[in-house]
Amino acid sequence: MEIRFLGHACFELSEGTDTVLIDPFLSGNPRAAIAADDAAATTILLTHGHADHLGDTVSIAKRTGAPVVAIVELANEIGEEGVEVHDPNLGGTVRFDWGSVKLVPAWHTSTTPKGTVNTPAGLVVNFHDAVVYHLGDTSLFSDLQLVGKRSPIDVALMCIGGHYTMDRTDAVDAAQLIGAKTVIPCHYGTWPPLETDAEAFKSDVESATRSDVVVLDPGETHSV
Ligand code: NI
Ligand code: MN
Repeated sequence: MEIRFLGHACFELSEGTDTVLIDPFLSGNPRAAIAADDAAATTILLTHGHADHLGDTVSIAKRTGAPVVAIVELANEIGEEGVEVHDPNLGGTVRFDWGSVKLVPAWHTSTTPKGTVNTPAGLVVNFHDAVVYHLGDTSLFSDLQLVGKRSPIDVALMCIGGHYTMDRTDAVDAAQLIGAKTVIPCHYGTWPPLETDAEAFKSDVESATRSDVVVLDPGETHSV
């Protein structure tokens, strides 16, 4: 399985003919690795409806025919655009041929550009043989330790940029609570308020935990 970082909080998981696209904010993203028109997807997953996550979801879903998984209020808004949606709430799991996605809590706020209020989520993605946990936008909270109890996390995709989410210091505690084999940082460096030192995060996590940190530049891929 390949995990490609497309910039900000956008990741593409791919294996064979399956391509799962998470939080496809590409148009207007100063660090996007690809244009929205070039994005591939067989399924699209959303953590929440802020513009820097919802992004190009509707146009990519219309072009590719990929169904979109999002928390119910957000799924309802997207569904009105004529896109196929799945609408779980926190704790719910949606199954596909490639595996499943479960919505778990994230401490944050969210309103879409159209004004729909929606509760943010993290995504636990069982993709083929790997478990990938995209934390979404969140601050540090102790229930992060519950997420890996049922299925240990192979890769955690973790925000570290501060200001809108936890910063790289709180993210070290988050990494400790989650206990993933690999942590890939995201949601930093996109705009000046989100500048941080990802290499310092890497050394702090690797000295405090047993997790390895892989720092990806937009466009780079990690193989699991
Ligand atoms: Ni957000
Ligand atoms: Mn965000």
